[in-house]
Amino acid sequence: MTFVVTENCIKCKFTDCVDVCPVDCFHVGPNFLVIDPDECIDCTLCEPECPAEAIFSEDELPEGQEIFIELNAELSKTWPIITDVTDPLEDADNWNGKEGKLDLLEK
Ligand code: SF4
Ligand code: F3S
Repeated sequence: MTFVVTENCIKCKFTDCVDVCPVDCFHVGPNFLVIDPDECIDCTLCEPECPAEAIFSEDELPEGQEIFIELNAELSKTWPIITDVTDPLEDADNWNGKEGKLDLLEK
């Protein structure tokens, strides 16, 4: 099993999640983070840390977020590892909770 970053991280990128991961499995892109499913040890620590509530166990994904299982696996192969908290993206608070952000994902 693995944990998965889902749509509401897009254009927010609060990065609180990276601070607690014991095995450094977060990878960063321009406006989104992903979890490497081969590294995640299902410790659950990151899930409650995300202010956007964007992280779920893969077997508890909200409806419509299934595509993010594949996106996390695919993008974590090429995006660099992130271990330090950074400032959220500009306007993150306004984007938090908006629907339809998948089209805005920058690879
Ligand atoms: Fe890292 Fe644990 Fe979150 Fe997996 S569940 S990404 S190991 S903090
Ligand atoms: Fe994204 Fe939440 Fe982490 S918004 S960067 S999954 S803290």
